Amino acid sequence: MTAQPQQGTSGPTSSPGTGGRRVLGRTGLEVSEVSLGAALLGQDRELGGTPSEQAVAAAVAMLTGPFVAVDSSNSYGQGRSELALGAGIAALGGFPDGKLLMTKADRDLATGRFDGDRVLRSFEESTRRLGVDVLPVYQLHDPYTVSFAEAMAPGGAVEALVRLRDEGAVGHLGIAAGTLSLVSAYVDTGVFDVVLTHNRFTLLNRSAADLVEDWAARGLGVINGAPFGGGLLARGAKPGASYAYEPADEPVLRFVARLEDLCREWEVPLPAAALQLSTRNPAIATTLVGTANPDRVAQTQALAAHPVPEGFWSAVDALGTPPVDFGTD
Ligand SMILES: NC(=O)c1ccc[n+]([C@@H]2O[C@H](COP(=O)([O-])OP(=O)(O)OC[C@H]3O[C@@H](n4cnc5c(N)ncnc54)[C@H](OP(=O)(O)O)[C@@H]3O)[C@@H](O)[C@H]2O)c1
Repeated sequence: MTAQPQQGTSGPTSSPGTGGRRVLGRTGLEVSEVSLGAALLGQDRELGGTPSEQAVAAAVAMLTGPFVAVDSSNSYGQGRSELALGAGIAALGGFPDGKLLMTKADRDLATGRFDGDRVLRSFEESTRRLGVDVLPVYQLHDPYTVSFAEAMAPGGAVEALVRLRDEGAVGHLGIAAGTLSLVSAYVDTGVFDVVLTHNRFTLLNRSAADLVEDWAARGLGVINGAPFGGGLLARGAKPGASYAYEPADEPVLRFVARLEDLCREWEVPLPAAALQLSTRNPAIATTLVGTANPDRVAQTQALAAHPVPEGFWSAVDALGTPPVDFGTD
């Protein structure tokens, strides 16, 4: 097994498009303004197969590129994301200095069980696939199959997470989910140092805007996932497009078309605008861009560094309230 992934000091301090370093709230860990999400990694192979060359190349690119953190989960690709990252770490001869690996505890995908025993098994599965002993950031992922009360009860998921942290197997705990009211309830326990929200602070949806400010003010490390809404805000309004993994309706596609017009006028690529809406928010420690394509690492760096005139943001505001609002759901 590779020694625990610790942050070294040998990484670059800053390079164009990484915007220097930010601190992930009270964890004190350094991150770059952009991190890479591995939700799609490894899914070019059937379950049970070994990771493809492309997946390992993507993992290596993610782990050695300009960005500090890579985010995965036990459930992504039913384990294939972590397996590909593990293969990337092995190909590198060990976990690279200066990088940060974050993954998540998941329910049993077959039964929905998400109690303390399941969390401990999920941790074992993840560390085995990744080939590491210790996880500096470990997140409770989408706890939708248990109630908040069940998760907090003795024998529940949160007790097991705290045990892993107290034993030193985990550095800091995070909560990662969509439903904002649920995320807030977990944040209010004071157990979590990191909070990951997704698809709720984008060009199409600002429902997390106030909470993001509040969480950062309370010292949490705020991670904003899916700045492209899963792809629509990178690829543009096309028939059949989806937002937040659901088909995008006409008003959403019309709003994206207006954003695309604005982007043409100001010579700002749509994905640069989508990414920088998030990275320019000082309450957000890091913004998670998902990919399984090694070429995206350099492309994402260029998008993060693309000049965006201040007037562009006023023009975005002038388009009015974005059309998607999940409220606290
Ligand atoms: N509940 C949770 O905890 C949760 C939920 C959602 C997301 N997340 C985290 O956030 C990460 C990002 O979310 P996401 O992947 O769903 O959404 P996203 O980052 O908004 O969008 C990713 C999609 O955009 C495409 N893309 C990326 N860069 C592009 C570019 N320059 N040009 C065109 N297309 C581009 C990717 O395709 P390619 O593969 O072709 O690059 C992928 O299909 C996830 O990987 C995960 O780590 C966590």
